[in-house]
Amino acid sequence: MFQLLLFSQLMILTLGNKWSKNYNQENLCALKGSTVIMNLTYTHPTGLTVKDRFWIINPAPGKEPTDLRNEPGYSGRVQYLEHGQNHFSLRLSDVKETDEHMYCVRVLGEKKRTKDKYLFYPGVTLTVTELRVETPENVVEGNKTVLVCNTTCSLSETPAFIWYKNDRLIDTKNSNNTLTLQPTKAGDAGRYNCAVRGYDLLRSPARTLSVRYRPKNVSVSISPSGEIVEGSSVTLTCSSDANPPVQMYKWFKGTTSVGNEKTMNISKISSEDSGEYKCKCSNEIGYQYSNSVTLNVVGAESTVQRAVVAVSIVCLLIIFVILTVVLLRKKKMYCWSVEHTGAHGNIAVQSLAHDAPQSNSCLADQNEDQYANIAYPRKAMSSAVRSSEQALYADVQKQRDKKVKNHQEEGVLYTTVNISSSHRPKAETAEQHSVIYSSVK
Ligand SMILES: *[C@@H]1O[C@H](CO)[C@@H](O)[C@H](O)[C@H]1NC(C)=O
Ligand SMILES: *[C@@H]1O[C@H](CO)[C@@H](O)[C@H](O)[C@H]1NC(C)=O
Ligand SMILES: *[C@@H]1O[C@H](CO)[C@@H](O)[C@H](O)[C@H]1NC(C)=O
Ligand SMILES: *[C@@H]1O[C@H](CO)[C@@H](O)[C@H](O)[C@H]1NC(C)=O
Ligand SMILES: *[C@@H]1O[C@H](CO)[C@@H](O)[C@H](O)[C@H]1NC(C)=O
Ligand SMILES: *[C@@H]1O[C@H](CO)[C@@H](O)[C@H](O)[C@H]1NC(C)=O
Repeated sequence: MFQLLLFSQLMILTLGNKWSKNYNQENLCALKGSTVIMNLTYTHPTGLTVKDRFWIINPAPGKEPTDLRNEPGYSGRVQYLEHGQNHFSLRLSDVKETDEHMYCVRVLGEKKRTKDKYLFYPGVTLTVTELRVETPENVVEGNKTVLVCNTTCSLSETPAFIWYKNDRLIDTKNSNNTLTLQPTKAGDAGRYNCAVRGYDLLRSPARTLSVRYRPKNVSVSISPSGEIVEGSSVTLTCSSDANPPVQMYKWFKGTTSVGNEKTMNISKISSEDSGEYKCKCSNEIGYQYSNSVTLNVVGAESTVQRAVVAVSIVCLLIIFVILTVVLLRKKKMYCWSVEHTGAHGNIAVQSLAHDAPQSNSCLADQNEDQYANIAYPRKAMSSAVRSSEQALYADVQKQRDKKVKNHQEEGVLYTTVNISSSHRPKAETAEQHSVIYSSVK
């Protein structure tokens, strides 16, 4: 077979005496904007001298065809490639849709002083295609989506396709004319172009992919925010992210349906409106519930009551403070007079404790102020201070600090009280016990 083929080739080349042609491809699909090369290999009768050869378009009987280089619209885009006697190629650049014609080669020759013309017909039929991104009608989140880079004719040598999303090249696993999204995500929405590798600039027009999904992030907002007082107006709003937009809203209080608008207005709200609310958003893809929100209506009466209670407490406090101040003043004045008249400024503790009942209340008061934490030894307590060894005044300081203000008013601070302990006769005790009042101002 191969030998036969070789033989026939030799016949054509050496002994060939007739016209024969071989257009490499008779149907050519070219990408708009690209460059194509059409190839012809031919033979002509022996003895013929080829004077001229050129490519023409749309041959018609009775019409002398024009050299393609002179056809309007082709200037600058046509180049003839001559590879020896029997090969003749056309290089056409920047292919346009208007280039869709049949392309043939015309040969003008001379044999034995007679002119001979020949048309290699039929020639190459050129079709021009653009790239087009095809997307399914209904792209749903979670499902598989296949985008196709479509052409109107099949491009010759199966080319590698590349894809762009929002003008950025995307990494694709396969290089055929499909782009598979599986599963489709909401984020896959965007503008897509495709192109043939090597012709990155000849991109398809952009195609917008819209991904549909059921409502997401359904939430309820309450206006006004804060405490809801009985009798006021409240608006609940249901918001969500959905594509297509939410087509149906439904409100529930507990399990009872209470509304079917995006917003739910409750005017003159009452405590019976308290409860758990949620909304349900639906579109044609699906539905989604919001979380429950709790509406807590505070009774108007109880707010009044609370106000009354608060005011009452404040009034009582004020009255109490005033009373305390008045009482303290009175007492202080009384004690002052006792100290100066009765004890010449030196107060004998035991006399205050035992001998002067009229000043007991004053002493008690003083004790409260200053001597609250005096620890008397048990014995001393029973036999009164005169027989005691020592009274301990450890915590006098603490007490004084608290009452500094009161004493400052009197201009006297009682910081340390020392009672020297001794076993003296009863009568002398009053004078023997030294009571030191250091005055600090
Ligand atoms: C024509 O030949 C050239 C060079 O050999 C080649 O690149 C091109 O693809 C051929 N054209 C067709 C349509 O086969
Ligand atoms: C999406 O996928 C689900 C299950 O795979 C199928 O039931 C549904 O029909 C698909 N939706 C679309 C629009 O193709
Ligand atoms: C590609 O385009 C052709 C012609 O426009 C059309 O018939 C075909 O259905 C398309 N293919 C796809 C996968 O969209
Ligand atoms: C493209 O390639 C992928 C993976 O290689 C394959 O699954 C798919 O069927 C191919 N599509 C076409 C149209 O050839
Ligand atoms: C919706 O919720 C998802 C997480 O559940 C979050 O990532 C996204 O940002 C939310 N979108 C909006 C618009 O709130
Ligand atoms: C609730 O009130 C708002 C503003 O007053 C209004 O836009 C909305 O339509 C009302 N909604 C209903 C369900 O009445």
